[in-house]
Amino acid sequence: MRFRINRSRSATAYPSPERSAPTPAVHVVEPEVVEAPLSAHEQDLIRASVSVVEPFAADMTVYFYAVLFARYPEVRSLFPPGMDTQRGRLLRALLRIVELVDDPESLVRFCGHLGRDHRKFGTLSAHFPAVGECLLASLARYAGPAWTADIAAAWTKAYGAVADVMISAAEQDEAIRPAVWPATVVHRVSRGHNIVEITVRPHMPYEYAAGQYVSVETPWWPKLWRYYSPANAPREDGTLTFHVRAVAGGCVSSALVHQAAVGDVIQLGPPLGDMVLDAATYSDLLCVAGGTGLAPIRALVEEVARRGERHRVDLFLGARTGAELYGVDDMLRMAQRHHWLTIRGAVSQEYVPGIRGSLPEVLAEYGPWYQHDVYLSGPAPMVVAATETLTLRGTPPDRIHHDPFETPVLSFR
Ligand SMILES: Cc1cc2nc3c(=O)[nH]c(=O)nc-3n(C[C@H](O)[C@H](O)[C@H](O)COP(=O)(O)OP(=O)(O)OC[C@H]3O[C@@H](n4cnc5c(N)ncnc54)[C@H](O)[C@@H]3O)c2cc1C
Ligand code: HEM
Repeated sequence: MRFRINRSRSATAYPSPERSAPTPAVHVVEPEVVEAPLSAHEQDLIRASVSVVEPFAADMTVYFYAVLFARYPEVRSLFPPGMDTQRGRLLRALLRIVELVDDPESLVRFCGHLGRDHRKFGTLSAHFPAVGECLLASLARYAGPAWTADIAAAWTKAYGAVADVMISAAEQDEAIRPAVWPATVVHRVSRGHNIVEITVRPHMPYEYAAGQYVSVETPWWPKLWRYYSPANAPREDGTLTFHVRAVAGGCVSSALVHQAAVGDVIQLGPPLGDMVLDAATYSDLLCVAGGTGLAPIRALVEEVARRGERHRVDLFLGARTGAELYGVDDMLRMAQRHHWLTIRGAVSQEYVPGIRGSLPEVLAEYGPWYQHDVYLSGPAPMVVAATETLTLRGTPPDRIHHDPFETPVLSFR
């Protein structure tokens, strides 16, 4: 079966996402949407078929890529040479397609991001029918007798709706900015504990907002893109500083920490993320950072300073040991310059005079925080526990901001 994407639809069944979108650094035009949402019955068909194939997800992933690369060898070079750690990403996203289409606002917003972000992979509109065809072939094979014409029609419609939005967003994005930004490493400082600060200078203007994150590709691991958060608000000289911690066995983080040197050129993808300062509110801020989660929080603090707005900022830094309390001297220097900034440390696994406990425990001792805008950044368990502590104590969930934990574009808050 040849899979077709309908690029001539004109009905605008979905609303514009502008009202709920954060302030983007670059004005990106959201595509007009173009397909009636799936009916409840079609959503049920898709969900039911996912539950049939899910137990075979690993085999299905191997099959999907084998079919894709055999039928369309021209797309192989878009993917990493060794796909072990990455293999599941695209297919996992496709299996969650209902989440992408059953809420019109997410469809436009998230698939818009996804489409723009896919430009860095070298994806072309012509590749979408190929991926759709191989997705359906894989589903049909692993669903076996459960696969019906109605299910195939529901999948075709869902995939078509997502692909339409992604393609339109990518086409519009192409008119206003590059797909990737080469950037030269201009400075590198080791901070101990396998952490380095790397400063890069993009070869072209790179617009982002403090608190956003950026995907990075290194020359040592082509096609492996990983997210890192600039630790600075936008600077006049255009440079960005990343705080990178080498994780055990980690490809990209280890290369950045142990191999990257001044003069090397890395690639940046477009900025992503909603953890930015809300332009319209002037509430005080509670910021909570664990490990290199400090990076986007530091950028937000710099942004408050840059804007000169009268926020008070309470910043809690957490680590397991005092020695791991990363970035504390730098932040204390900032607090000396800015009377509105208060820094507190939380150390969970050893006695340090001052504060002891995990970040959520320490947060519960201070406060109240229910009138603050909250920014959380760090390991997922810390973010989850802090969110729970704060919501239990009355902070409205919509005032709690954090980055997604895994595949960013598919996280819904
Ligand atoms: C929105 C976002 C922002 C991020 N910002 C930063 C940042 O500013 N600085 C930073 O250093 N990292 C940051 N990360 C994490 C970063 O994107 C990579 O996941 C991390 O550097 C590991 O990549 P890798 O290629 O080295 O490891 P991989 O080769 O992908 O993984 C190797 C092994 O390490 C494990 N692993 C992967 N990530 C972690 C982790 N974070 N901790 C422990 N084990 C892990 C994997 O499960 C795997 O077993 C961010 C992630 C997200 C989603
Ligand atoms: C409806 C269509 C599609 C959806 C929903 C989708 C979704 C995704 C998602 C969520 C990721 C992971 C991104 C990340 O972790 O940063 C991804 C990765 C990727 N996608 Fe897509 N994608 C689609 C179509 C395509 C097409 C048509 C191509 C071109 C062949 C493509 C090529 C890639 C590549 C090369 C990667 C990175 C490889 C990897 O890290 O495994 N995608 N996709």
